[in-house]
Amino acid sequence: MVASKRWRREAATEPFRTYGGAFWIIQQNLSKPTRQIHLLTEVFQKDWWFHRLGLSEVLNSMLNNSEYNIKIIPTFELIKESNAWIYNEYGGVEVLKFESDVAVPEVKDDQVLIKVAAAALNPVDFKRRLGKFKTIDSSPPTVPGYDVAGVVVKVGSQVKGLKKGDEVYGDINEKALEQPKRFGSLAEYTAVEERLLALKPKNLDFAQAASLPLAIETAYEGLERAGFSAGKSILVLGGAGGVGTHVIQLAKQVFGASKIAATASTGKLEFLKSLGADLAIDYTKVNFEDLPEKFDVVYDAVGEGDRAVKAVKEGGSVVYITGAATPPGFFFVLTSNGEVLKKLSPFLESGKVKPVLDPKGPFPFDKVNEAFAYLETNRATGKVVIFPINP
Ligand SMILES: NC(=O)c1ccc[n+]([C@@H]2O[C@H](COP(=O)([O-])OP(=O)(O)OC[C@H]3O[C@@H](n4cnc5c(N)ncnc54)[C@H](OP(=O)(O)O)[C@@H]3O)[C@@H](O)[C@H]2O)c1
Repeated sequence: MVASKRWRREAATEPFRTYGGAFWIIQQNLSKPTRQIHLLTEVFQKDWWFHRLGLSEVLNSMLNNSEYNIKIIPTFELIKESNAWIYNEYGGVEVLKFESDVAVPEVKDDQVLIKVAAAALNPVDFKRRLGKFKTIDSSPPTVPGYDVAGVVVKVGSQVKGLKKGDEVYGDINEKALEQPKRFGSLAEYTAVEERLLALKPKNLDFAQAASLPLAIETAYEGLERAGFSAGKSILVLGGAGGVGTHVIQLAKQVFGASKIAATASTGKLEFLKSLGADLAIDYTKVNFEDLPEKFDVVYDAVGEGDRAVKAVKEGGSVVYITGAATPPGFFFVLTSNGEVLKKLSPFLESGKVKPVLDPKGPFPFDKVNEAFAYLETNRATGKVVIFPINP
């Protein structure tokens, strides 16, 4: 059954409260009573009309009457198209379009469909949109977005640990650069593998949860790969960005760093200290590689190349997540994994590790292009978040 676009849209925003707020009534076959019900629901869909005219009672009695073959179907089952940001060709922010008739993705056996509440932007989104990964990217049309937080509305046949109604979050692309999904999180609905998700920590709202996955997982994987452990010192290059803010917090709260130094511009030095940095270095005034102090690990989230290796102790590790790596430093690309979010959950729930949202946001769903323009200035503090989506 294909409902009219107008009806679908209003059905989604004006749910029939008598049936729990999330449901709409249709009948299984197209018998006469069905057509009558459709007529009623189309004409009197606003629930105050139902109540005022006593129609909710009429429908309730029909539900209890075996003569009528009535089925209650979640609203999203009726929604085959939804609002999403999409680009059909590589390019600048101007190629991003807001469309209202983007097909909702099919759910594979190991996936769940998420009704998206919030999403966050990452540099990989705009680098991909600019065509920097053309050779390994899935080609446009593309709905961008890696980070998501929302509610499970449908589960695939092989999904074991999640159910409808679960509040989840995650980075939806297992490999950030290798054939990432064509259908991302900047949409009202998105399909994601169960293994990439975790339950949202209860103390965090959707906007906070959406800010975390890609950045915190990258921070964690880099620290692990560098062999970071209690008692070691670290220098974080780009401490105020999405990744850097979590490298500082994880190094201190999860790994037990002995000393944390981090770089940012003049106005962000106090902010670095508030995250746990012992030494905040103003990169506009000081060359970090000229400091006498050297570090066990240098985590480079800026792309400082050979400057970064000059700041590491003999035998230490340098992690690069952008730009070319200078030996003995190494470069890696995140593998998204819901298990990391689960592992970090106690630190998030206790408030030891906190989401960091850029104060210019959250940006509403219809301002995604403005949010990208801001992120692309390379001056964001923490994460640029999109909220609300599906208010
Ligand atoms: N390999 C991977 O798996 C992976 C994963 C995630 C991210 N990345 C890459 O890592 C980089 C960082 O990502 P992100 O999400 O953290 O970016 P971001 O949030 O956009 O970073 C913005 C921050 O970078 C700081 N910054 C800019 N130039 C700096 C400099 N010369 N020295 C110190 N800080 C500087 C800015 O602080 P100021 O305003 O003070 O300059 C700003 O707070 C991006 O290139 C991204 O593509 C790679």
